[in-house]
Amino acid sequence: MRQPSQSAHDSQVDARNETINIYVNGDILPKEEAVVSVYDSGFMLGDGMWEGLRLHDGEWAFFDDHMDRLFNSLKSVSIDIGTGPSGIRDILDRTAAANGMTGDAHCRLMVTRGRKAKPFQHPSLSRFGPTIVAIVEHSRPVASLKGRGVRLATVPQVRGLPMSQDPKYNSHSKLNCVIACLQAEQAGADEALMLDPHGFVNTTNACNFFIVRRGEVWTSTGDYCMNGVTRRKVIDLCRENGTPVFEKNYSLYEAYGADEAFLTGTFGALTPVAEIDGKPIGEDEGAGPVTRHIGELYSDLIALNVAEQKAARR
Ligand SMILES: Cc1ncc(COP(=O)(O)O)c(C=O)c1O
Repeated sequence: MRQPSQSAHDSQVDARNETINIYVNGDILPKEEAVVSVYDSGFMLGDGMWEGLRLHDGEWAFFDDHMDRLFNSLKSVSIDIGTGPSGIRDILDRTAAANGMTGDAHCRLMVTRGRKAKPFQHPSLSRFGPTIVAIVEHSRPVASLKGRGVRLATVPQVRGLPMSQDPKYNSHSKLNCVIACLQAEQAGADEALMLDPHGFVNTTNACNFFIVRRGEVWTSTGDYCMNGVTRRKVIDLCRENGTPVFEKNYSLYEAYGADEAFLTGTFGALTPVAEIDGKPIGEDEGAGPVTRHIGELYSDLIALNVAEQKAARR
C-alpha cells in the first residue's frame, strides 16, 4: 500500500503555535497582529533573505554559522540592517523569551529590503526598510521522518547558475524550489531531487542531499545548492571520524544504486530517503547504519556547540 505523503519539514501538531508572539520590526506582537505591509519588498518581489535556526537548551545552534551566511547574503544584495549578529541574537532571544521557549523551537528569521514607496521593482523605492520578522514556533519533527524515509522524485526544474540567481542566496523568492516541489508532488513523491544544469545530482528543493555508497559518503560539489550549515557540519564530522566523504559530481546512476541516502537541514538534522523515482534505497525504507551513526555524531555536535555558547556567555 502507498504510504501517505510527508515532507522533510513535518512537525508534530502543537496547539501553542496558534497563540505565539512574533517579532516584527522592534515589536513583539500576538500572531494575529503580526503583519507586514502589502508594499513590503519581500511580499512584492521576494527581495529579502531568511535563516532557519533551532533553539536547543536556551541557545541557537550554530548561531555564528547562520549569521555568517545571513550577513554575507545581505551584503551581497546591499541590504543594511544597521545591526550585527549580536542585534539578531537579541531579537531571537527576546522572541523566544516572549513565548517561554528554551528548546524544541524553530525560528524563521526574515529580513527584507522593507516597505516600498510605490509598487514597483526598483530597490530605491524601498525607502522604509528594512523589515525584520522572527517567527519562533514550538517544533519537533514528527517521529515518522526518522522511521520511514521520504520519497524523492527527480524533476524537470533544475538548479540555477550562479550568474542568474545564485542558489546560495537563502532568498525569500524560492520559486525555483517551489516549482520543483510541485513537480515532485505531481509525480507522487514527497519532495524533489534536483539536478544541476549539467545533469548531475545536486540537492532537494528544501534540503541538501547525500548518498552512502559502499562505505563512502557522497554529496554534490557544493555548486548550485544552498551552502547548508548542516551540510557543512556533516562533511566535517565524516572527515573527523574517519568516514570517507566526497564532494563530487555524480549521476542518478549512482544515486539509484546507493546503499543509503539522506537529507540534511536545520529543521530535521538528517532525514533518511526511502526511494528515488520509485526505486527503493537501502533495506528498510529508513535510515541505514551510516546515516544513523552520522546522525548521532551530529546530535553530539549540537550539544557541544550549545555548551560552548553557554560558556562564552558567562
Ligand atoms: C534549498 C535549501 N537547501 C538546503 C537547506 C538547508 O540548510 P541548513 O542546513 O543551513 O538548514 C535549506 C535551508 O535553508 C534550503 O532552503
